[in-house]
Amino acid sequence: MSHQPRFDDLHRRHVEAELAGGEERVRRQHKAGKKTARERLEILLDAGSFLEIDKLVVHQSHDFDMAAQRTPGDGVVTGSGRLHGRPVFVFAQDFTVFGGSLSEAHARKICKIMDLAVKTGAPIIGLNDSGGARIQEGVVSLAGYADVFLRNTLASGVVPQISAIMGPCAGGAVYSPALTDFILMVKNTSYMFVTGPDVIRAVTHEEVSAEDLGGAHTHSTTSGVAHFAADSEEECLALIRELMSFLPQNNLEEPPQRPTRDPVDRRDESLQTVVPDQPNRPYDMLDIVRTVLDERYFFEVHAGFAPNLIVGFGRLGGRPVGIVANQPAHLAGCLDINGSLKGARFVRFCDCFNIPLVTFEDVPGFLPGTTQEFGGIIKHGAKLLYAFCEATVPKLTVITRKAYGGAYCVMSSKHIRGDANFAYPTAEIAVMGPEGAVNILYRREAEQAADSTSFKAEKAREYREMLATPYVAAEHGYIDEVIEPRDTRARLCEVLELLRTKRDSNPPKKHGNLPL
Ligand code: HXC
Repeated sequence: MSHQPRFDDLHRRHVEAELAGGEERVRRQHKAGKKTARERLEILLDAGSFLEIDKLVVHQSHDFDMAAQRTPGDGVVTGSGRLHGRPVFVFAQDFTVFGGSLSEAHARKICKIMDLAVKTGAPIIGLNDSGGARIQEGVVSLAGYADVFLRNTLASGVVPQISAIMGPCAGGAVYSPALTDFILMVKNTSYMFVTGPDVIRAVTHEEVSAEDLGGAHTHSTTSGVAHFAADSEEECLALIRELMSFLPQNNLEEPPQRPTRDPVDRRDESLQTVVPDQPNRPYDMLDIVRTVLDERYFFEVHAGFAPNLIVGFGRLGGRPVGIVANQPAHLAGCLDINGSLKGARFVRFCDCFNIPLVTFEDVPGFLPGTTQEFGGIIKHGAKLLYAFCEATVPKLTVITRKAYGGAYCVMSSKHIRGDANFAYPTAEIAVMGPEGAVNILYRREAEQAADSTSFKAEKAREYREMLATPYVAAEHGYIDEVIEPRDTRARLCEVLELLRTKRDSNPPKKHGNLPL
């Protein structure tokens, strides 16, 4: 007897699973400018590498006539694939099946690939497009969410976790992404909120659109929840691929090296004049960052949020590095609450995954003002300090201009285990800037001086010559070398190579108590 009928049955089941919510719902998904879960995975992964599991899983719910509405896959496509040839585990929620809402079965599928990812040491990438908890399943669905949250937390710092938001993500659907390392959103088609506009109107009487409340622009600029805002789904998926090229598979691996033709000893004369003569003139720190990195390529993360602090990835001599840099072109490069949060999270990510940190510093201090103080700049600034203190990856620092006050200590200084600390001759390393210092040190004399303005200017000049230089710090060994700006790339590449075998650790403990 032929087995053909059984093979045909299997084939039919596959087709049914691939049809998902049916042609009409797929058409609606496309009309809304969105792709289906399978289409997205095809773009994300290396061609032909997707290996699906649990394709025939269905929900087990009976209430609300649910037994009659079973779709194989139950609203999420899960499995493994390859990205730049390396294995990754993926789930992609399918909005055409119950709005991608999370049932018990749906959650189990996600948990299964998360467990496999942690066991095998491979990243987890989630493509989220979900109406939240499956309403018909009640608490069983909430339990499913909690199972996912626990796994997100346990996997944190073990394997990279990336979340793309490619549709509405309401209620519980936002908290799994929030526990992961990076969130990407798509402009105009993705939303994240704990409670939507209708609930807000009813409770607080505020009128707000879904886009203004939780769209990609809002989360990548105002709340800082999202690290990237892509113009399209294709761009979002390409950004994930790009991001992954800098990351190791897990916390036990080094990040992947990529051969470069850019000479490690490339000198760049343009750097000699990037820092302006006048100490209060802004300049674009990105000019220095880009010039120094391999092929002058910098992959900026969180670009729209807290632009006074730049973070992102690049390579030096083919090795991925995490860049943290003050941006004097915004808020004069001051550290504020948002900048501290952004920096702390990035530093901790790099430290989790063995990515060396390169810090470019030009910081007049923490941003003054009641908004900052009432908002808790003390505890938020402490997060960045804590993050740099506990980081044991190679830490390289270049002070281009100002390094004043507490911000000097925070920004990967020698005292908090900076491995290589460089300064340009234009560096000013002191407790505070000349004008502020003179106001405090010579207040009485200035009041009594015949011409108080020129008295203060003279004292500020004296202070600048004596203290606002890199040389006091260099004399104490807090700066290893004062370098000419054009030599930055060569020095960083040399030292990074030396530090390849760096080993350092923190005292054994359950975990520290990061000032949250
Ligand atoms: C079951 C759902 C669903 C849900 C949507 N659907 N959300 N089914 N449970 N949570 C179904 C719809 O019935 C519809 O089915 C299909 O998905 C598409 O939904 P539409 O409303 O037609 O789409 P759209 O207009 O684009 O609106 C999408 C949406 C909206 C914004 C997501 O559906 C919505 O507000 N859903 C409810 C969101 C929510 O409140 N979720 C619970 C959050 S509480 P048909 O058959 O017509 O195609 C939560 C608690 C967890 O998550 C807490 C853990 C900490």
